[in-house]
Amino acid sequence: MLIELPRQTEVFGSVKIHELQRILKLDSGGFKNPRAKDIPFDELKDVLNRFAVVIPVKDEKIHLLDGVLRAIPFNCTIIVVSNSERGEHDLYKMEKDMITKLHELTQQEVLLVHQKDPEVGFAFYEAGYDYLLDKDDLVRDGKAEGMIIGMLLAKSVGKDFIGFADADNYIPGSVREYVLDYAAGFCMSESPYSMVRLHWRYKPKVVEERLYFKKWGRVSEVTNKYLNLLLSTNSGFETGVVVTGNAGEHAMTTKLADIMRYSPGYSIEPYQFVYLFDEFGLKAEKMAYPDAANAGIEIFQIETLNPHLHEEKGEKHIKDMLLGSVCTIYNSKLCNDYVRSKALEELGDILDTWEKPPEVTIMPPIGGIDADRFMDMLEGKSETLVRYKETRR
Ligand code: GDD
Repeated sequence: MLIELPRQTEVFGSVKIHELQRILKLDSGGFKNPRAKDIPFDELKDVLNRFAVVIPVKDEKIHLLDGVLRAIPFNCTIIVVSNSERGEHDLYKMEKDMITKLHELTQQEVLLVHQKDPEVGFAFYEAGYDYLLDKDDLVRDGKAEGMIIGMLLAKSVGKDFIGFADADNYIPGSVREYVLDYAAGFCMSESPYSMVRLHWRYKPKVVEERLYFKKWGRVSEVTNKYLNLLLSTNSGFETGVVVTGNAGEHAMTTKLADIMRYSPGYSIEPYQFVYLFDEFGLKAEKMAYPDAANAGIEIFQIETLNPHLHEEKGEKHIKDMLLGSVCTIYNSKLCNDYVRSKALEELGDILDTWEKPPEVTIMPPIGGIDADRFMDMLEGKSETLVRYKETRR
């Protein structure tokens, strides 16, 4: 792969944010170029062998999930965390049947579990991590909640890198690229605490019966603006470095995943920046993780070659996401009165029932949970956990 080197890197305390890097070629020929990094496929493959891709899914079209699963590089482990409908119209069963057939044909390692499995809730309860449980001790609805389950399963199978891919993607080839882009980021990383966030080159929409290749999503434009404002007002130097505030497509080293805090639902991605700025930024008070602070937290932002075409979920969904995003920034330790007032203006009519954005309940790091024990508790007892092994190795 040939990827542009970042022209600039913003350093905010222990957090290094690299400027957007474009994919120049998905394949490359070892040509030495001072402005680009050539990453041989063997190096990418070494990362993929240590990589789990978590796919959170809730009631998506089965054809889309099927395409996404078939696109994930073979060397990775796939982890599907489903929160799809059960009961009479058992979508989870359809997903399971499809995955069983796919595994028969491919023999790729896949783990599947349902978010509402009582044994999953019980395993969290036993681990003392009840922050994502509802009053019935089941895991709440929410994409972040599904991602946390996925991360624990990834840890239980010993993976060093954990990435995420949405299940509603219409272009399987783009999913394959996303995973390779993650691997490229980790090949460039100098810190064991690093994150790769993707910026889609285009997000096509149908406008007046024609395809329009839109560059920025409505929510991400706002989120990026406020994350940059947070950085600018605290460093005293204006910046526009953050362009991946809402990156649903992102990946982390397991070491970083272990020390992150998580915000619920769709606010998980913008909060990752807020947390890192608060905890490791210029004004961090006491360092809970000195090793990470010393090594530095490295964030890569990569622009994909492929466009992103996915299911549209409607206006209310967009407003909820916007609210979730801006709330995490509003509640940041670094947010001053100026940024707060701007955020309130931005939320305008979305906030008609509140005077100020509601506080977000943050979930603590998962590093303290014994992932092997978590898995042991599920295996044998859980009705929905299926572990499809890779039989080639
Ligand atoms: N396990 C689980 N549990 N999965 C869920 C849940 C849940 O409660 N809710 C949603 N998902 C799955 C969806 O099925 C999909 O695969 C993925 O999470 C993303 O959800 P979408 O509803 O498709 O989100 P979106 O397309 O509007 O937003 C995506 O892109 C944004 C950036 O533009 C998400 O990835 C956002 O998190 C991201 O910020």
